[in-house]
Amino acid sequence: MDISTDLCGIALDGPVLNGSGTYDALAARRAFGEALDRDFPFSAFVSKTITGPPRDGNPPHRLWETPSGMINSIGLPNPGLESFVSGDLPQLVGLPVPLIVSVMADSVEGFVTLIEAVAAVEGVAGIELNVSCPNVHSGLIVGEQPTETEALMKALRPLTSLPLIVKLTPNVANPENVALAAEAGGADAVSLINTLKATAIDPDRNRPWLGAGGGGLSGPAIRPIALAQVRIVSAAVTIPVVGMGGITDGESALEFILAGARVVAVGTENFRDPAAGIAVRNGLSAALERRGFASLAEAQASTLS
Ligand code: FUM
Repeated sequence: MDISTDLCGIALDGPVLNGSGTYDALAARRAFGEALDRDFPFSAFVSKTITGPPRDGNPPHRLWETPSGMINSIGLPNPGLESFVSGDLPQLVGLPVPLIVSVMADSVEGFVTLIEAVAAVEGVAGIELNVSCPNVHSGLIVGEQPTETEALMKALRPLTSLPLIVKLTPNVANPENVALAAEAGGADAVSLINTLKATAIDPDRNRPWLGAGGGGLSGPAIRPIALAQVRIVSAAVTIPVVGMGGITDGESALEFILAGARVVAVGTENFRDPAAGIAVRNGLSAALERRGFASLAEAQASTLS
């Protein structure tokens, strides 16, 4: 089964990526050594979101398991741009698959600094703009407003010829309006969905379990919502869509392709099974074959009735 594809000019040997922040490739390499490089679980690697200044992240608890999913309130802990560029980034560009760096800032100027620094590094294949993190207050504003999203993209587009992928929030009534604004501003692709705003309550202490009060829900529980939003957004825009939200196997990956996603990303399932990307990739080939598709491209081109 030919499952090779491309994402806005990035050639991929398959359509399964990781969701940003759900897989630590450098820790996996330390644990599994060269065996990881021989069968890397994803066809492109998306880094954990990097911000300009270092961040400690949110107070504990940061993770809460829910029926068929989890809430995370991580809060974008990261070493900051300078330390990332001199530390992790040179190692990440050495992974056996294309590297997409995820960045987030609370101002246009902050994004400009991040894009200029990351785009200057040889080997970076693309940049994902996280305008949808529910765990950092300022992270959500741009991604909720079509006009702000378009203005941001217009400021960033001239800075690099690398593909710019905008990660959309599901926490708006009409995600297609933000997607259209991203496209109008020059985005090369959109990825969706990020997590849904959620919380968990500890009745004994009469307070939320999560240190920050709330977080973002992910996992199979949100898959139907993700599929609906991927379907609506991919019908609205002409740029490719990276679909994610509760993908656990080849069948659920195929659902996203048929809903209009060009490629898919596995997120929460990586916490349960670090080899989930491989299972999804192999399962997708089998799922395509069962439906009589001759290739991934044939499924990507087919439209839902
Ligand atoms: O670290 C985080 O809280 C990331 C969240 C997100 O981007 O959804």
